[in-house]
Amino acid sequence: MSEKLKPAARVSGSRQDVWSIINEAAAASPKQPIINMGQGFFGYNPPDFILDAAKQALDRVECNQYSPTKGRPRLKKAISDAYAPFWGRKLNPDTEITITTGANEGMLSAFMAFIEPGDEVIIFEPFFDQYISNIEMPGGKIVYVPLHPPKEGAVKTLPAGEWTIDFDELERAITPRTKMLVINTPHNPVGKVFTRDELQKIADLCLKHKIIILSDEVYDRLYYVPFTRIATLSPEVEQITLTVGSAGKNFYATGWRVGWLMGPPHLIQYVSAAHTRICYSSVSPLQEACAIGFEQAESHDFWTNAITDMRHKLSLFNAIWDELGVPYSEPEGGYFVMVNLSSVQIPGGYPFPPHVAERPRDFKLAWFLIQELGVAAIPPSEFFTDANAHIVEDYVRFAVCKPDEVLEDAKERLRGLKRYLKKAGSKTE
Ligand SMILES: Cc1ncc(COP(=O)(O)O)c(C=O)c1O
Repeated sequence: MSEKLKPAARVSGSRQDVWSIINEAAAASPKQPIINMGQGFFGYNPPDFILDAAKQALDRVECNQYSPTKGRPRLKKAISDAYAPFWGRKLNPDTEITITTGANEGMLSAFMAFIEPGDEVIIFEPFFDQYISNIEMPGGKIVYVPLHPPKEGAVKTLPAGEWTIDFDELERAITPRTKMLVINTPHNPVGKVFTRDELQKIADLCLKHKIIILSDEVYDRLYYVPFTRIATLSPEVEQITLTVGSAGKNFYATGWRVGWLMGPPHLIQYVSAAHTRICYSSVSPLQEACAIGFEQAESHDFWTNAITDMRHKLSLFNAIWDELGVPYSEPEGGYFVMVNLSSVQIPGGYPFPPHVAERPRDFKLAWFLIQELGVAAIPPSEFFTDANAHIVEDYVRFAVCKPDEVLEDAKERLRGLKRYLKKAGSKTE
């Protein structure tokens, strides 16, 4: 190929990503149709009051044209109002909120706004995979700090909060070039909600070393233990924090691609500037629908119902692990559950394709589940560096944001695991 046709390094990584491996496994499985509990998209629609708002927005001339680059005023005001109880004041919609094309593009904009080549960004493993390319795009160097699973995770179901940070390890990761630190709470894939005390320790380090905090809070309406937003710890912490939100996660509409960042004007203005260069502005009619979603959510009891419904789905689905005696991390937030399958014995000589055979055991477990039972889940070592992948090689992540019937079908299929279970904690393959 001509040198000139060669793609740039930032898009030409050769390793097959987890999504294509799982999709390929699903297509190759004899158990059709596959029950897909892999990717975190919803298997049901947003509530009618939000869908209707989207349909009606399409009938309005101004909703089919460009929105202001920083977002539609109605949506920014609705977000300011909706978050006022948590911040203890109304954020200024013009200077402290900016609308983005999903949380993901919002985070890309934040990195584009503050990272120069060689600047370091600390992220915790496991990480949301898009952070990596978003940080590398402007030339950032990623510094990884692992979350440590509970020691007894292979034999006992324990709260996801027992995945912990080693704060000495975190402090050692900080250098004079550390520019940003990313946290995610409630956490994907672990299901951990960081405690106030943990957030305070992280914030103290960031204040001490003058590091910008990017707090990915896309699951902020799905928490089952007390949830603290790091920006609200103190006015000093607020000054260095960008908080990320997602209408896709809040309103069960991941395809709408509406997100936002909240933070002090001296940070938000540059995120807005980067966003303008990346995609100019975000989808107008769906911003309008999200504004109405926020305006009407309380009167429909939507936020309370969202928690009740997701907790129901979690306990409905996790009952299968209790039944099988398989331990998992009990989610404190979000809709993912990490299940420890160390007790599953994959038959010797199982025919894995080479690109799966060379990956950690969780990839083999995920492949095996798809082929033998027709249930797709995600191998979480994809969200770790190679050096730390072993930490989660026995775990597999399931997304429960699916209709109850689908969860029931998945449970029925997962009963088929019984014949592959051996005593928890030991491994022979
Ligand atoms: C932790 C985390 N952050 C961000 C996102 C992306 O959100 P959005 O769809 O709004 O871009 C996801 C989606 O899965 C996620 O899990």
